[in-house]
Amino acid sequence: MKADILLTNIGQLLTMDHGNGAIHGSEMSNLPLIEDAAIAWKDGQIIYVGSKDGVEIEANEVIDCQGKLVTPGLIDPHTHLVFGGSREHEVQLKLQGLSYLEILSRGGGILSTVKHTQEATEEVLKKKAKFHLDRMLSLGVTTIEAKSGYGLDEETELKQLRVVKALQKEHDMDLVSTFLGAHAVPAEYKGKEEEFLDRMLAMLDQIEKEELAEFVDIFAETGVFTVEQSKKFLQKAMDLGFSVKIHADEIDPLGGTEMAAEIGATSADHLCGASETGVKMLGESETVAVILPGTTFYLNKPEFAPARPMIENNVAVSLATDFNPGSCPTENLQLIMSIAMLKLKMTPEEIWNAVTINASHAINRGETAGKLKVGRQADVVIWDAPNYVYIPYHFGVNHVNSVFKNGKLVV
Ligand code: NIG
Ligand code: FE
Repeated sequence: MKADILLTNIGQLLTMDHGNGAIHGSEMSNLPLIEDAAIAWKDGQIIYVGSKDGVEIEANEVIDCQGKLVTPGLIDPHTHLVFGGSREHEVQLKLQGLSYLEILSRGGGILSTVKHTQEATEEVLKKKAKFHLDRMLSLGVTTIEAKSGYGLDEETELKQLRVVKALQKEHDMDLVSTFLGAHAVPAEYKGKEEEFLDRMLAMLDQIEKEELAEFVDIFAETGVFTVEQSKKFLQKAMDLGFSVKIHADEIDPLGGTEMAAEIGATSADHLCGASETGVKMLGESETVAVILPGTTFYLNKPEFAPARPMIENNVAVSLATDFNPGSCPTENLQLIMSIAMLKLKMTPEEIWNAVTINASHAINRGETAGKLKVGRQADVVIWDAPNYVYIPYHFGVNHVNSVFKNGKLVV
């Protein structure tokens, strides 16, 4: 069989081919890789992964990687991709010492982005989201999760979700859609949070009918939704067949981590204030911990999520950008890898597992994305780097040389 493309003379090829399932705890130190490797694909599907020596594959195009690092496309399992406007006007408030939740309680923060998103047309939102997706792809990310949550009303939430659906068809990026209608409490629902949650739940029929989202998410936080409200809400979504995620213990330690493990959420995200019990419960569950250290950094918080205790307690840890206009305005997952190394004290091996295999399991894509294996889709990145440690080590710049999505050169 003649391959479309053969990459050869690869210095290190991270296959991430561990066997099935997310990688838990100390297993995250294992990094399946081949040195002096080659990889080939045809019609977007991988047909060879192995040593470069003795490869007898003919290919239409042979690329000499000159000893560079080659990995699966990165996966960003937590983004707020679609939104109107931006929030640089809050920089001044932040510098004056106002906290994220104070800005929100004054009608700014998420609520300010809600206003801009409500006012924007679907075309404008789509064009803007495409701009961010192009940038992510150029940074080596080939699959992302994208949340709604800047509508808080039927019309705008559906508008955001339809943008994601349209981009799923048109863009090279693989997108996994999440309904986050329960992202904040609109002013008119203050004190009537449960009524608002019922209104958001009532949208799920329509969302299912139009196939607009696979996941449902909620922000359990002081001044937003309680853990009890969140639990009820997510359980109802699960009863309707949705998988669930939760913004848990991001700022105040409320017990969202425990709740996520208890109900069997696919992922629990943020987790800066996760308790010891919460960490233990996660370690005994299949819920993936999605840590977002870029947000902790950008909110200037002293306490990062307890990644080391998580790994010691057998948790499957993943990493994401949390890309959004307020708490983490960056598309750069490579930068997040550096912050994870410095602030979460994760090793490069753990970090690579976190942004490939474990990220795929955080968004129910464990069967298709995150590893390089015969029969899988060819989502492949060539890096201008001699080894995998180099990416988190040399921080703040883009190391991508080329990106192939489903076998096609896209960057
Ligand atoms: O994950 N915390 C809630 N949601 C986002 C921030 C959204 C925003 O500030 O616009 C987060 O940090
Ligand atoms: Fe988020």
